[in-house]
Amino acid sequence: MQIKKVKVKIKNKNDIDYNILIKHGILNKAGKLIKKLLKGERVLIVTDDIVGRLYAGKIIKSLEKENIIVSVCILRNGEANKNIEGISNIYFDLAQNELSRKDMIIALGGGVVGDMSGYAAATWMRGIDFIQIPTTLLACVDSSVGGKTGINIREGKNLVGAFHSPKLVIIDSETLISLPEREFKAGMSEIVKHALLFDEKLLEVIENSYNNNKEKFDMDFVLQRNCELKSHIVQIDYKEKKERMFLNFGHTIGHSIENVAGYGVLLHGEAVAIGMIFAIEYGIKLGITKNKNILERAKNILSNIGLPISVPENINLKEAIKLDKKRSAEKINFVFLEDIGKPIVEKVDINNII
Ligand SMILES: NC(=O)c1ccc[n+]([C@@H]2O[C@H](COP(=O)([O-])OP(=O)(O)OC[C@H]3O[C@@H](n4cnc5c(N)ncnc54)[C@H](O)[C@@H]3O)[C@@H](O)[C@H]2O)c1
Repeated sequence: MQIKKVKVKIKNKNDIDYNILIKHGILNKAGKLIKKLLKGERVLIVTDDIVGRLYAGKIIKSLEKENIIVSVCILRNGEANKNIEGISNIYFDLAQNELSRKDMIIALGGGVVGDMSGYAAATWMRGIDFIQIPTTLLACVDSSVGGKTGINIREGKNLVGAFHSPKLVIIDSETLISLPEREFKAGMSEIVKHALLFDEKLLEVIENSYNNNKEKFDMDFVLQRNCELKSHIVQIDYKEKKERMFLNFGHTIGHSIENVAGYGVLLHGEAVAIGMIFAIEYGIKLGITKNKNILERAKNILSNIGLPISVPENINLKEAIKLDKKRSAEKINFVFLEDIGKPIVEKVDINNII
């Protein structure tokens, strides 16, 4: 099968163009693909302890074949490590291995590794190139596309960061085979989100193959379609002034639930699934969501995947929203669906949501 390609063209202060390449087994070619873009002679692979063990060897081999000097920085896996200490570790390895402005960082892992490597690349010597090799479904369809990088601080998630686009994204669907099932399902939640927001046909693909006939599910096609959908939004609204806000569908309530449950109890995608159902129900209540059938449809799709669709019993949603309220203004932008493929952002009063 051929490599699937999604071109991303961002008109910004500095125009940014890059490709997303998708193919089962493409990791073996990583060296050749990276060599074409590398201006210097060194790369630092940033990965975590789980992904590094599984896939770093393959990439190192492929890079060394091209005479690229490779060093590896291994971070501890998990959201709890997406912090300034992790960034210090990356800077330490960049300095120890003498990476110059012409050299490159390669992010190999999920969204945590991608966000941290991107931030280190944005700030090392005022910005060097980096390449994303995402290995979770969420990272393939969401975090590796769009140029947002960053870390968490004690005061909140993703509060420190920068916009810094990769020079290339390499997606090898073979790496998703080792992904724990729960992580895979959490990634599916973002795919359903993209489908509900922008593409009813993609929703049908999920219903007809993933839900009912898994053998027919064409992972590479779904990855490509999602990258196209997300990159289209990023291209028209890189700095999240308007359309990019649509991508926050399900996130307002999802975020509150995630916060109050404590990070790691519910995966992000699970919280977003609950948040999407809330947003549809709320939209119906306010008369914004005109097609009431989408509620049942979305519930079926998400629960068939194995995602939660209602708030866990031990979570008091009102309290969760009240807690979050302290952190935001009284009126917030809330993403509703008028219908499938018709998102709309409305300002709503948090007290009304409560
Ligand atoms: N930059 C953005 O636009 C953006 C968008 C969405 C989410 N994010 C960020 O992404 C992060 C979440 O990313 P995530 O869900 O990928 O989590 P993650 O990076 O923590 O990965 C989840 C777990 O899966 C393991 N893993 C990764 N790939 C694997 C594989 N192929 N096989 C086996 N195990 C594997 C990791 O070691 C980790 O333990 C959050 O920090 C979030 O803020 C960023």
